Amino acid sequence: MIRTAKKTPAPLTQPISGRLREFRESRGLSRAALANDLGVSTITLYRWETGSTKPSPLAAERLEALGFGTFSEHETSIGSVPRLKLARLDSTDRLALGITQTHSQARSASPEPTLDVNGSAKLVVTSPFVRNGPPDQEAFHRKLIDLQMQGTSALPANNILRRLSLVQEVQGYGSTAQHELEQPKLTALHWNSNYGSHGWHRYVGRFPPHVVRSLLNYFGAHSNSLVCDPFVGSGTTAVECRLLGIPFFGIEICPLSCLMTRTKAQFPKNARLFLDVADSFSAFYAERLKLILGKRQIKDFSHQETLSRPGNLIPTFANLERWFTTEAFLGVSIAMEFAMSLDGYSRDAVLLALSSRMRSIGNVDVDVVRAEYSREQRQAVDVGRMVSQQLRKMFSGAALSLKTHADLIGKPSIIDVREASVLDTELPDGSVDCVITSPPYGVEAISYLRTHLLSYRSLVAHLKHDPYEARDKTIGSEYLDKIVPRGTPPAIDVSSACKKFFALSHGEVNPKYVTRRAGMLQFFDDMLATGERLSRWLKIGGHVAFIVGNKRLGDDVIPTDVIVRQLFESCGLAFVTAIQHKLKTNNSNSQVPWQERIIQEESILIFKKTAGVL
Ligand SMILES: C[S@@+](CC[C@H](N)C(=O)[O-])C[C@H]1O[C@@H](n2cnc3c(N)ncnc32)[C@H](O)[C@@H]1O
Repeated sequence: MIRTAKKTPAPLTQPISGRLREFRESRGLSRAALANDLGVSTITLYRWETGSTKPSPLAAERLEALGFGTFSEHETSIGSVPRLKLARLDSTDRLALGITQTHSQARSASPEPTLDVNGSAKLVVTSPFVRNGPPDQEAFHRKLIDLQMQGTSALPANNILRRLSLVQEVQGYGSTAQHELEQPKLTALHWNSNYGSHGWHRYVGRFPPHVVRSLLNYFGAHSNSLVCDPFVGSGTTAVECRLLGIPFFGIEICPLSCLMTRTKAQFPKNARLFLDVADSFSAFYAERLKLILGKRQIKDFSHQETLSRPGNLIPTFANLERWFTTEAFLGVSIAMEFAMSLDGYSRDAVLLALSSRMRSIGNVDVDVVRAEYSREQRQAVDVGRMVSQQLRKMFSGAALSLKTHADLIGKPSIIDVREASVLDTELPDGSVDCVITSPPYGVEAISYLRTHLLSYRSLVAHLKHDPYEARDKTIGSEYLDKIVPRGTPPAIDVSSACKKFFALSHGEVNPKYVTRRAGMLQFFDDMLATGERLSRWLKIGGHVAFIVGNKRLGDDVIPTDVIVRQLFESCGLAFVTAIQHKLKTNNSNSQVPWQERIIQEESILIFKKTAGVL
């Protein structure tokens, strides 16, 4: 429960630990009460108050909302992350970047963009968050806008005006569909990555839909194109394609990500389905609860009784009693029973609604990204109410998407998602117009998927397997016993930057990094095998936008952008440009210290398929 608080900022002179304690005491709150309001465990709050750790940006946001006052960056866990050394590479090894201006230069030098409509230049009114946004986003926004303007000639004028990303309106032609769906306030400082169905499920590592829409415009993708995302994740590219009516084929190894993507991108043309499903779910839930409990209190009902009740589909798993209270577990069990009695999209919708609320249903410390249970048990968890509320929220998102994109949106069937490894998938040569994707950034891909552990355990009847079981096929797996050959030469023999980095930085292999080094080398072998496939699948002249981040090995930043560029070039993909920018999605879910610590830089690498494979 969030209590409303007077906006009296705490004085800024004290360290954050002391200010926090004072703030809590001034409100007469126990540590447990404030921790509960913030969605963290008491021990986490204790650590902040004693100065051993700092609040995450997400927690800082919540504290600010409670009237704590503002945080500076160094007062959050992001500020305590040490700057990493750049890899020991010559400057000539770095990419020539698309953005070279300083932010202040960009602000003063860039005139408002214009668009040529039927021979006359029309002023483009950029979105409020572009106009008001922080200076460190400005050059990035400009670059995306410039790129998409270059692609507009391939599209009919009426279509492109409505499709523009990061744009409020083109003078005299009304607002863009994105602006209508996102509905930013005129004073907005940041974009909202959760517009439409994008925010239906938490996902660390999601990229901003605005970037995807700009790239789709830059590539001139339209209703007769085929866009491919071989690492679908939570489906950002798929959702944007659906909204713009562009056929999409996605590949994804993780069954939960496939569920997210299907649900977010294949919602029906009549959004009432969500309300109907919510109504029947509520009725089923109430009836089942009454039947199961009779005159008993939920607190007297054991986990074992839920496990053995007829209709339960959740097998027992380690630490079940710590993850769920008896009330929460029975609720999840009933929700699963209901979901599995449905089929098709209705089933997907209920499962997604349930999974999306799992962090509030289970005893999960929201300040921790990994799958860790909190010592504090959540009280009064009403799964029936949570799932039904989520379905109603999904109704609003789908209904508004359909309304604002009525002239652009395609049928649900234009979105196709295959649960498989990209390295086991074949598509006809020359069948794809463009690829917009983001692979795992290197090792840690499994831990990152397992942040949804409670969903894998609870939804197993539908999902069938846990990503851990696909660890040999998951790119970036940290659980590989041996190098898995992929039929392409080792990346180290193809990319000079790869050879140089791994020879220079860890030539005399530090025993601490042996496994990580092997995992990263496998990752680059897999990137080469991916590049080889993408190049074959693409039409001549087709494009790839590949979003990668540079992780590190020990203290050195791995030049992943340079290595991927060299690997892809060897596959016949000519490098076009790169935009280097840390993709803060302004989705608090991805602003985790964990991510800041291990990813130094992110780049959007753009390639064009040339005449043939070199
Ligand atoms: C960085 S995420 C993509 C995020 C996505 N761009 C978004 O906005 O949500 C990378 C995805 O690649 C998937 N993946 C890992 N190995 C794969 C493989 N061999 N084939 C297909 N997908 C794989 C992971 O499951 C993960 O969902």
